[in-house]
Amino acid sequence: MKKKGKSVVVTGGVWGDEGKGKITNYLGEQSDMVVRFSGGDNAGHTIVFNGNTYKLHIVPSGIFKPSIKNVLGNGCVVNPKALLEEMAVLKESGFECNNLYISDRANVLFDYHRTLDGIQEDRLGARKIGTTKKGIGPCYTDKVARMGIRMCDFISKDFKEIYRDVLKIKNEELARYNSPTIDFETSYQEYQKVADAIRPMVCDTISMINDAYDNGAKILFEGAQGTLLDIDFGTYPFVTSSNPSSGGVSTGSGLGPTKIDEIIGVTKAYTTRVGEGPFPTEMNDNVELAQEIRDRANEYGATTKRPRRIGWYDAVIMKYSCNVNGFTGLSMMLLDVLSGIKKLKICDYYELDGKIIYAPSAKIDDFARCKPHYIEMDGWDEDITGVHSFDELPINCQRYINKIEEILGVPVVIFSVGPDKYQTIVRREIY
Ligand code: GDP
Ligand code: IMO
Ligand code: MG
Repeated sequence: MKKKGKSVVVTGGVWGDEGKGKITNYLGEQSDMVVRFSGGDNAGHTIVFNGNTYKLHIVPSGIFKPSIKNVLGNGCVVNPKALLEEMAVLKESGFECNNLYISDRANVLFDYHRTLDGIQEDRLGARKIGTTKKGIGPCYTDKVARMGIRMCDFISKDFKEIYRDVLKIKNEELARYNSPTIDFETSYQEYQKVADAIRPMVCDTISMINDAYDNGAKILFEGAQGTLLDIDFGTYPFVTSSNPSSGGVSTGSGLGPTKIDEIIGVTKAYTTRVGEGPFPTEMNDNVELAQEIRDRANEYGATTKRPRRIGWYDAVIMKYSCNVNGFTGLSMMLLDVLSGIKKLKICDYYELDGKIIYAPSAKIDDFARCKPHYIEMDGWDEDITGVHSFDELPINCQRYINKIEEILGVPVVIFSVGPDKYQTIVRREIY
């Protein structure tokens, strides 16, 4: 009888940037393997330890410890140039990255995907998504249209012919938009070198992950983006092009759903969003407070440096996220940022056309018209950045957490009171 492993999924509660990187790095250290299962280098995961700050975009957050296997699963779109650049930066900081594996089924993100991302945004004009312009949408589009190039082909001798055929079609597309076309020979030569560098990392990660699980390994799935950015469950069309919610773990890694043991939702103590799209609890009526929070928490995109939009805690979308993900526990982040705010608000339902609703509307124009209803709670003044247990938190902070738990019906099993790894309090052991 084989020893069963343990798999822990960590996904973003709402619109990304909830602090997933901090938690996946924290839990990753206790894991044998850390797996990204969706998205690409549109992610920006901040990790702070030993006085240093690292920003990861495509490399999984277990990279800092050589004994952990880090995997980019089949559900990811991988820009191999961006990956090599990120690895070079990590190597400069002393992290060798010899522990990175890429699925042979992952789709490769090419330069033309980035160019087309920019073109599509321009063409949308006022309806633009506000993407990271990393080429994510166009790459997933090609995948679904069965025009993508996968890692197994990228590193094979067939790449030249496949790339020639695909680039011909892509150049026609670029020309249609009056964008400069790509010279096949030059581009091929360049990518051939990139493929040589990538080749040793490409393997059958599906067997790797399943074998590890069947042999008792601890496997952490590192979510990117967030549930409200999910192509199916998010605020469409203001979403990314993958399934970052927990349903994406099996399709994006090849570990079957019956082998998923724990699903942790990362949630900020307030709400943020970067990019376009409706945001019912956005602090439009209190831009000073929004700016204060932005400054205090350095709420600027880790990937694009754009200022993040700030809002009150939205328990409506988070409840929806709990349903969609099936969270077994929550990790509540950035609680320290709320210290000193006299009154805190939690949105417990929306009003739309005179009706009370408890879930986000599918139609984006309806969602944009939703009026948040708030529960007001007293804040706390104390600095909580040095707190080590739930009981040490000011009573109003405890009440705030308890109220959110009560509305969501899911326990807060981890909370965070600062960006550093040591500012993490675990209420229930995850492994
Ligand atoms: P991710 O995309 O979900 O990994 O999140 P980001 O790294 O993009 O954004 C989260 C930001 O919050 C980063 O700047 C983190 O360093 C920071 N952060 C995470 N947890 C805490 C916390 O508990 N308190 C404070 N003050 N900052 C935190
Ligand atoms: P992490 O992993 C926040 C947003 C973009 C845009 C939309 C589509 O750091 O939480 P895309 O480039 O994916 O086509 O952009 O999704 N977005 C994110 N927002 N955090 C992210 O990642 C994001 N990745 C994409 O701002 O609104
Ligand atoms: Mg981020």
